[in-house]
Amino acid sequence: MPNANVAAVVLAAGKGTRMKSASPKVLHLACGKALLAWPLDAVIAAGAEPVVVVTGHGQQLVEGLLTQRYRGAVRTAHQSEQKGTGHAAQVALGALEGFIGTVLVVYGDCPLLTAASLVALVELQQRSGAPVALWTTHLQDATGYGRIVRGDDGLLAKIVEHKDADELQRALDEVNPGVYAVDAAFLRLALAKLESNNAQGELYLTDIVAIARANGFVVPTLAVSFAETLGVNDRVQLAEAARVLRGRIVQRAMLAGVSFDDPTSAYVDDSVRFGIDVVIAPNVVLSGKTALDDGVRIGTGAVLVDTMVSAGAVVHPYSVCDGATIGERAIVGPFARLRPAAVLEEGAHVGNFVELKKTRLGKGAKANHLAYLGDADIGAGTNIGAGTITCNYDGIGKYVTAIGERVFIGSNCTLVAPLVIEQDAYVAAGSVVTERVPADALALGRAKQTNKEGYAKKVRDKSAARAPKKQ
Ligand code: UD1
Ligand code: MG
Repeated sequence: MPNANVAAVVLAAGKGTRMKSASPKVLHLACGKALLAWPLDAVIAAGAEPVVVVTGHGQQLVEGLLTQRYRGAVRTAHQSEQKGTGHAAQVALGALEGFIGTVLVVYGDCPLLTAASLVALVELQQRSGAPVALWTTHLQDATGYGRIVRGDDGLLAKIVEHKDADELQRALDEVNPGVYAVDAAFLRLALAKLESNNAQGELYLTDIVAIARANGFVVPTLAVSFAETLGVNDRVQLAEAARVLRGRIVQRAMLAGVSFDDPTSAYVDDSVRFGIDVVIAPNVVLSGKTALDDGVRIGTGAVLVDTMVSAGAVVHPYSVCDGATIGERAIVGPFARLRPAAVLEEGAHVGNFVELKKTRLGKGAKANHLAYLGDADIGAGTNIGAGTITCNYDGIGKYVTAIGERVFIGSNCTLVAPLVIEQDAYVAAGSVVTERVPADALALGRAKQTNKEGYAKKVRDKSAARAPKKQ
């Protein structure tokens, strides 16, 4: 619902000291997505344009995320010294020059806010004609938050920061979650009037409320549930926020046609895409650019990272797939490992304790038990026997094993690359293959068997004669 006259400012210059981390707080991940990207996506979904992010600590890293994820769609303003939220908003004004309309101001460490509630706030501000409107929420323990102070008429009078509040004010349980819709002209005017005569010696963005009141305006508030307003200051809150986000992601998937046997045990990144009639067993992890097409089934304990799974394919329990492509109706696992650039074409099978790396398994080809297939190209209908290994590495370079269509590789073969095995060939079990196998040929690369008649019995009898007698 793009709104032509809404801009947004996201404050993200703070250090996040309580995270006890080498990286900036807003780059920590929740459900595979940087904290900062959550409110950013929300303001963008609410129709804000332009969007300005105020950076400070870890500026280069934060800007790296913005370039990679939003390309040119997000502007930045740098706050070199953190002199408070009001100062941060002042810094953003330069990037909003000429903008007329409503500015949404939010904090970069609030991943749970939703576009719907942001739109509702913008509508409230615009409908009421107030210069500023804001969210409020109720908390049992409001320690640390700015308190919403109302007059006898019930109207918002001002916001008092915890450190500046007296005892009566500290007892108030209605707090400021830090989401504001402000008329741009008023924002410029009010920010110019901020003073730092407070407990922290900072410029408080929250003081724009008292400034609006002093100019005779009523400041309307929108009550929003705490589930939308949790701010992340430490790793306990990060885990809590991630839990809420996971619940939302899984719910969205369920409503779009995905079944979860145990929704609470699923770890699904925001970036994962689903078709319909997908069924997910308990304790599954789906992350990155993973996409599951219609009718895919994922077994217990499977971990899929950046993996494409086509319609009707099945990934059995405890398989780990990273950067793999799984074709229609293919079957993987249980206990399979697909590494980057493993490609299973339609109806291919990879069974237990089989590892694939940079390997194509053609249509209907099978590697059902205990194999390592690396840097290999395997044609349609080929069968790879149990225990087969492609020796793709000689300690210096990596080499390709090319196997044609309808080839039969017997069990426990060692295929030494570079190697070509042409179509319809047979390789006898236990062979070490170092040379090209022509089409339709049988390759035997193993010691010839000899039987020594009666020799086992002879050994047994000799041993029995030597053994000490039982008492
Ligand atoms: C702020 C609010 C408080 C509210 C609380 C909600 C003010 C004065 N207070 O307090 O009323 O209840 O959030 O969580 O606004 N930041 C900058 N530059 C700065 C300072 C902060 O970019 O100079 C950014 C931080 O990175 C953070 C956000 O602004 O994303 C909030 O700053 P923080 O110091 O956490 O404010 P609080 O004290 O929590
Ligand atoms: Mg805070």
